[in-house]
Amino acid sequence: MSSQIDHLLNETRRFAPSADFAAAANAHADLYDAAADREAFWAEQARNLHWHTPFTRTLDWSNPPFATWFEDGELNVAYNCLDRHVEAGLGDRVALLWEGEPGDERRVTYAELTDEVKRLANVLTELGIDAGDRVAIYLPMIPEAVAAMLAVARIGAIHSVVFGGFSADSLRSRIDDAGAKLVITSDGGYRKGKASPLKPAVDQALGDRGHGPQETVEHVLVVKRTGTEVNWEDGRDLWWHDLVPAASADHVAQPFPAENPLFILYTSGTTGKPKGILHTSGGYLTQAAFTNKVVHDLHPETDVYWCTADIGWITGHTYVTYGPLANGATQVIYEGTPDTPHPGRWWEIVAKYGVTILYTAPTAIRSFMKLGRSIPEQHDLSSLRLLGSVGEPINPEAWMWYRHVIGGDRTPIVDTWWQTETGAIMVSALPGVTETKPGSAQVPLPGIGLDVVDDQGQEVGNGNGGLLVLTEPWPSMLRGIWGDPDRFKETYWDKFADKGYYFAGDGARLDEDGDVWFLGRVDDVMNVSGHRLSTTEIESALVGNEAVAEAAVVGASDETTGQAVVAFCVIKESYMKANSLDGLVDTLRAWVGDQIGPIARPRDVYIVTELPKTRSGKIMRRLLRDVAEGREVGDTTTLADTMVMSTIKGQVTKKD
Ligand code: WTA
Repeated sequence: MSSQIDHLLNETRRFAPSADFAAAANAHADLYDAAADREAFWAEQARNLHWHTPFTRTLDWSNPPFATWFEDGELNVAYNCLDRHVEAGLGDRVALLWEGEPGDERRVTYAELTDEVKRLANVLTELGIDAGDRVAIYLPMIPEAVAAMLAVARIGAIHSVVFGGFSADSLRSRIDDAGAKLVITSDGGYRKGKASPLKPAVDQALGDRGHGPQETVEHVLVVKRTGTEVNWEDGRDLWWHDLVPAASADHVAQPFPAENPLFILYTSGTTGKPKGILHTSGGYLTQAAFTNKVVHDLHPETDVYWCTADIGWITGHTYVTYGPLANGATQVIYEGTPDTPHPGRWWEIVAKYGVTILYTAPTAIRSFMKLGRSIPEQHDLSSLRLLGSVGEPINPEAWMWYRHVIGGDRTPIVDTWWQTETGAIMVSALPGVTETKPGSAQVPLPGIGLDVVDDQGQEVGNGNGGLLVLTEPWPSMLRGIWGDPDRFKETYWDKFADKGYYFAGDGARLDEDGDVWFLGRVDDVMNVSGHRLSTTEIESALVGNEAVAEAAVVGASDETTGQAVVAFCVIKESYMKANSLDGLVDTLRAWVGDQIGPIARPRDVYIVTELPKTRSGKIMRRLLRDVAEGREVGDTTTLADTMVMSTIKGQVTKKD
């Protein structure tokens, strides 16, 4: 880590905004002054939304860490993303430029999307979904996914989108935790050149009724996407195409209180059980729309915007569905993988639709770097005028490549730091204002209070590293963990309770200018390809296999994915007596993929005879990380058995 930090601190390249970009930019330096009165600033941003009932109170922070924003105001989130644009005469504007992986296309205008959402809202009501009910959405990246989120929001219900790459088990636990009444899914979606089924995972999740508490799911609404044969449970399963087109397109959006829950999104924490992060309506939409406008410099009349995230992640929620649609943007949505049918697919899409704003993850940029510049160079990328990065620290090399090869040395890059919990971007350069530094996410946005502190909560000051904290409440902050207020307090607020700071779980350093450099997580959360995974969750999956007695998982640095999952497993004596270990490594990798989802599958599994533990029995993951990253093993003096590391090293090297 320290050599990496030194390397980062030697980064001296700077890029000032061009005069042309600055002249037309949505962001201006005076936004920072305007935000000196934080509450007034956010109230002003909130007034860009349509309020059925205007709010009179901005923030109530009298009962921290439970905040309310715009509490006495009422709005309808879907109305803000749809009807108001149609009513303003923009019904013919394209909302979604959708491209399926096989090359099929759909252009959906604001009028058409509004119509579809109204019909679906009527269907949901007919199916008995009321305000406050939970609806699980398990869909590929098709227009219906966006419509489903908005229809649920429109009737004041709460969606829980589950990433289509998660397993039946993961889906089941999310359905149970939220007590979902309805699941919206599809027969499948196209990935890597073939139809990849989704409905079987729903069947498996719901079939095993003894597994969860009492079954809460009454219906499964199924979109036909691939035409793959599906199992059908009469009475429970319903086709979207039977119900939605036949439903009435008359639906008047009702106002809901600003603090009405909008969605739950599960994310990995430091324990085995994912946390249901809860977001509400008015504050969330305010910050989603504001950040999309100033950080992505969105000009909805002229831009073609593309955020490559899946709606299964927070980035897809805020910067595919809510932010851009609240702003009336025209955006590209692509169903498939970046390299299907050829490695230039993304760049072909940029050229085809004339994408002007591209928002993606460092891991994608690094894999394109690996493939070489000759691939993007075959496509006309001259429409691009702004590039964004999200999900993990972007190393200066990848930043420079992104700017040079993809951005033609002309585009500003915004490296945006935020979390599922923060709901929207918190730290970023403002394009047209900030002189950018490759590798640094730079400055808190106007209206955001942030600091880097030591373990006691004392500011570390410029030139030093520590823990990132958010010092003031913000409109799109999480309002809690679904069903677990204690865990909400413990996880984020207890560490600096006396100061009232939110603890983000990220290490960060302030440079001499006070710019923020993110250094990765300080807890047991890994970041693999920009996706959060918990070491404990993967360890519990591993020990759930009949062969494994004990497991320790670490995130090891990886050139492409940022971090990679590396597992060390001790095998049960009884298993070894009865079985050969041939093929066990592959079996265990596949097992984790089945239990959690392919993103959690370890890059390496090492079979070892012991794990390094302190005298009190705590696994020393730091030492295992040294082994996984091929470094000299650090200080072993606190180990119960100081020889164990040389044994492990021997076993790992033998395997290589
Ligand atoms: C990391 C994704 C450095 C960080 C929006 C955070 C980043 C976690 C950046 C949240 C960035 C996200 N620079 N690190 N620009 N963006 N992270 O909840 O560790 O999936 O805590 O939200 O990703 O991941 P999540």
